[in-house]
Amino acid sequence: MKEEAPAPFVKFASGENIPLELHKVRVVQKLNLVPIERRLEAIKEAGFNTFRLSTRDVYLDMLTDSGTNAMSDNQVAAMNAADDAYAGSQSFDRFKDAVLEVFGKKYVLPAHQGRACENILAKAFVKEDSIVPMNYHFTTTHAHITLNGGRIIEILYDDATQISSTKPFKGNIDINKLEKVVAEYGADRIPFIRMEASTNLIGGQPFSIANMREVRKVADKNGLIIVLDASLIGENAYFIKKREEEFKNASIATILQTMCGLADIVYFSARKVSSSRGGGIATNNEELLKKMKHLIPVYEGFFTYGGISVREIEAMAVGLRETLDDTVISQSPSFIEYLVENLTKKGIPAVTPPGGLGCHVDAMGILPHVPQTQYPAGALAAAFYLVSGVRGMERGTVSSVRDENGNDVLADVELLRLAVPRRVFTLSQIKYVEDRLTWLYQNRDLIGGLKFVNEPPILRFFDGSLGPVSDWPEKLVAKFRADFGDSL
Ligand code: F0G
Repeated sequence: MKEEAPAPFVKFASGENIPLELHKVRVVQKLNLVPIERRLEAIKEAGFNTFRLSTRDVYLDMLTDSGTNAMSDNQVAAMNAADDAYAGSQSFDRFKDAVLEVFGKKYVLPAHQGRACENILAKAFVKEDSIVPMNYHFTTTHAHITLNGGRIIEILYDDATQISSTKPFKGNIDINKLEKVVAEYGADRIPFIRMEASTNLIGGQPFSIANMREVRKVADKNGLIIVLDASLIGENAYFIKKREEEFKNASIATILQTMCGLADIVYFSARKVSSSRGGGIATNNEELLKKMKHLIPVYEGFFTYGGISVREIEAMAVGLRETLDDTVISQSPSFIEYLVENLTKKGIPAVTPPGGLGCHVDAMGILPHVPQTQYPAGALAAAFYLVSGVRGMERGTVSSVRDENGNDVLADVELLRLAVPRRVFTLSQIKYVEDRLTWLYQNRDLIGGLKFVNEPPILRFFDGSLGPVSDWPEKLVAKFRADFGDSL
């Protein structure tokens, strides 16, 4: 670990840097740790898809941080002061003020969540044959752009999907590739350039402001607009402060304003960015606003509630402002860093540098004997649930699509994502994850592949069911019992 420990890390007398919780727990929820035999039944019932598990059978829910971050006392208090009105709610005014303060954008359209913003953006800007260059896609972004006849082109640097790396900004756009895309397809076919903060599917990896400034130059030269997906912007800002020399003494507020100032449109999932529900699309540009605004009452609701309750709007507003607090946004990345560094020391491959959202374990590195067509990340997610009761998420080929010939489009990376929702878990729970993952790694030869049993035509990872290619789950259970005796 590093000598210098930025908050919330503190140096213990032992010399170890520990991420200290800078909050206290005041409302708790009971968790279940059911025996491994029940977990085996549960994962079979769920078709080896962790999305389909009931939390009744889950100990730590590390599926996602979406809508599962802990709310603050101030958020809960604000919900009680919500102004219930179909139109003209003062709660919306408070949300609007927060968007201006945090993102520096004066117009905001509310939506019920992030993908609803993507639906509006795609309907407003994407046409048949549109090309949308981006650092990397998110599943729902890909779906909305392709459903509207467009195509995405990913223009990360070639080494951005390398699992083990010291590159601080793997989410950067390769400017040469961007210029080539513009030259090849022409600016007319490009409705916008999309930049995703803390690029989710490659392991929560940030981009730098220096890179965003370069993208801005290309956009300006070609009359293009930049759309920023700010769902994980707090984490990206935290990494900029830690890793980008120019901003090491800057406040998070300045970093956020700088990032958003370089984008024409900023949209976000408040389920992630502000520990609440909802989402929003913000801009300072009236013409761009006009292209989207009429779609809000069609798909979301009136302009002052956008498909969510006014209570949630109040929580969004407070949550956005809390993004300016270093101790809030650093909590999840510091636990992730702690976990990733401990796994790496043991030789267990995980995406480095540690990113935002979660610890991303390299399934292909752990299961080289499972071919990608047998979904190593899906198999690892099921196996890890089995041995720990911890629910992670597959982020690999199961989350991908099939090509026109019906073959899997193999994912660039096969990751088991263990999300660390903000201020939800304790360090002993993180240590439990480390311990069970270590045991699973030592027994990795027992894990086999999966095959689809029922496959939905779109976003198949949500509800698809799979089955094991052999009796490997039973063998894993037997080994667990042999090693752990009666322990849960
Ligand atoms: N963009 C990014 C970068 C996201 O991570 C998400 C959601 C969305 C858009 C869509 O937002 O869920 O509110 O509709 N990510 C969640 C996850 C689902 O688990 O990573 P949403």
